[in-house]
Amino acid sequence: MKVVHTVNDLKQTLQAYRNEGKTIGLVPTMGALHRGHASLVSRSLRENDVTTVSIFVNPTQFNDKNDLAKYPRTLDQDCQLLQSLLTDDSQLVVFAPSVDEVYPEPDTRTFSYPPTDEVMEGGFRPGHFNGVCQVVSKLFMFVEPDRAYFGEKDFQQIAVIRRMVEDQKFPLQLCPCPIVREDDGLALSSRNTLLSDAERKIALNISKNLFASLDYAKQHTLAETRQWVIDQINAVEGLEVQYYEIVDGNSLLSLNDWNDSNYIVGCITVFCGAIPVRLIDNIKYKE
Ligand code: PAF
Repeated sequence: MKVVHTVNDLKQTLQAYRNEGKTIGLVPTMGALHRGHASLVSRSLRENDVTTVSIFVNPTQFNDKNDLAKYPRTLDQDCQLLQSLLTDDSQLVVFAPSVDEVYPEPDTRTFSYPPTDEVMEGGFRPGHFNGVCQVVSKLFMFVEPDRAYFGEKDFQQIAVIRRMVEDQKFPLQLCPCPIVREDDGLALSSRNTLLSDAERKIALNISKNLFASLDYAKQHTLAETRQWVIDQINAVEGLEVQYYEIVDGNSLLSLNDWNDSNYIVGCITVFCGAIPVRLIDNIKYKE
């Protein structure tokens, strides 16, 4: 495993592999790696000759300075976890750049992919997806991967990046990977480390109610199901739903009826705890 901190070192390292005809997978991350990331990395290691994992807390996608400041940064632990995933013949390059390395000048590019980047997170975190597209497009240009892996916990992020890949004609395959959950159902997230034990227990009600809504939905309308999930979760002390939308899985537009699409996903964001931690999750009703 090789750790590089500059774009030049990264490009040189990857060019040598490319010259040998090797395929390259990219797993973009902001670090604080957990089993969810590990599943993306393991899949990339299986499907490509070389895997690049980027570890970079991207400032341009945070519209809340506090959120950026308290985002966990654990490079040494992250490298240990990555090392443990290696098999004899796998090649892993970790790209852990500084902010100045990625943004030697402010990035003034704008990306706009309505409605995917306007609804839900797009409404509550203005500029967030623009920042995501800025950094992910740079990573695609630095790494030039054959395949790029993203977790479906950030379901909306994948829909926006899919549009960007089409728009910018990046010659790569986008590989969405299923949410990884704890045994008790909690979706794995770097932000879970910010929860106290008590808050973590409370947070379990998010996935519990999303799963329960799959049954509820069989006997109820889409609007009733949406409202039921919101009410169930808001009834738990310490949880507050910011939004719950049941949307078409491609356009991300809210639906009115279960018959309006063959691909239906419920996307939720919930504030958990006293200094609230913002948790997101989603569930597929139809695929
Ligand atoms: O999903 C994330 O961790 C980030 O949004 C990403 C894709 C690494 C871009 O900073």
